[in-house]
Amino acid sequence: MALQRPDIEKIRKNVAQNEIWKSVFRHGYQDNQRNRALMVLDNVFLHLHPVRVARHGANIGYTWGMGGITFLLFIILTVTGVILMFYYRPVAEYAFDDMKYLMNDVAYGPFIRNMHRWAAHGMVITVMLHMFRVFLTGSYKPPRQFNWAIGVVLLLLTFLLSFTGYLLPWDQLAIWAVTVGTNMARATPLLGHEGPFGPQLGLKSNNDIRFVLLGGTTVGAATLLRFYVLHCIFLPIVAAVFMAVHFWRIRKDGGISGPKVESKEMKKARDVVKTMQIKRTDLLGGDDINGNGDPGTDPDSPNGTDPTNGTPHSPETRP
Ligand code: HEM
Repeated sequence: MALQRPDIEKIRKNVAQNEIWKSVFRHGYQDNQRNRALMVLDNVFLHLHPVRVARHGANIGYTWGMGGITFLLFIILTVTGVILMFYYRPVAEYAFDDMKYLMNDVAYGPFIRNMHRWAAHGMVITVMLHMFRVFLTGSYKPPRQFNWAIGVVLLLLTFLLSFTGYLLPWDQLAIWAVTVGTNMARATPLLGHEGPFGPQLGLKSNNDIRFVLLGGTTVGAATLLRFYVLHCIFLPIVAAVFMAVHFWRIRKDGGISGPKVESKEMKKARDVVKTMQIKRTDLLGGDDINGNGDPGTDPDSPNGTDPTNGTPHSPETRP
């Protein structure tokens, strides 16, 4: 018996023309401006995105997609981190054994742990590349300077998340790496007992910033618990709040930066001014408005400004 081709139109109608479908998707797909805006605004997930995105904002060659990838890695870290929490106790007696158990006896344990590890390494790399791209495209300039400052906090939080997570396996590498890392806190100006003004302020090894960080004078059980709470609760929540502000700010700053968009009217006005300048120069027989001869090489400068720095040519330096 020959197979009948499925009637796609009938299937589509059955799926999309019933009460349940229509209660979830309230607008059809007619491709017009109003409908497109309603589709976005009516959907709890889609409305997080702007209704319109400038062409350059969706250009991967411009953004490198690095901010988005950083965010995706943060989501992966959150999900895999929660799974890891089912198997890990931040207690000095158990932590190392819990990691051994996870790696040797838990189904997909190594997979989840490695996903968490690689995503963490990846996030540090992508956040730096994202910052580099923002710098290269000059996107830190007004009106985006505040978002750059939020970004700097996010960079710091990413590093802190990475550093606090480093201690949790509670192996030799973790303990000594964090010992070395936190030793730097001794020398913090005004806060560390070996830093500038530390001794004058009465700071000692048992009351300075390093002591607060470690919960003691050396890396120990209290440090493990402290870093665990910072790593799993405090820092992710603060980072999530700052990311929300970061994304909100992108929208408020007019979307992702890009070349200045000139309105049709502005372009027309500019063309008219340019034509008038050319006509005027012709009428004056090659002189500019001040009768200074060659108006210079900069087409935008009737007075013959220097195209390299925009300053008016003096009679001596005029080309
Ligand atoms: C957890 C860290 C971060 C996340 C998840 C994140 C996410 C994003 C995303 C998704 C965008 C949209 C454009 C794009 O993908 O490039 C963006 C834009 C931006 N980010 Fe970040 N970002 C982070 C860290 C940073 C850092 C460290 C800086 C700078 C110090 C920064 C400064 C900016 C600025 C100024 C924009 C606007 C760029 C434009 O309009 O072209 N961000 N960020």
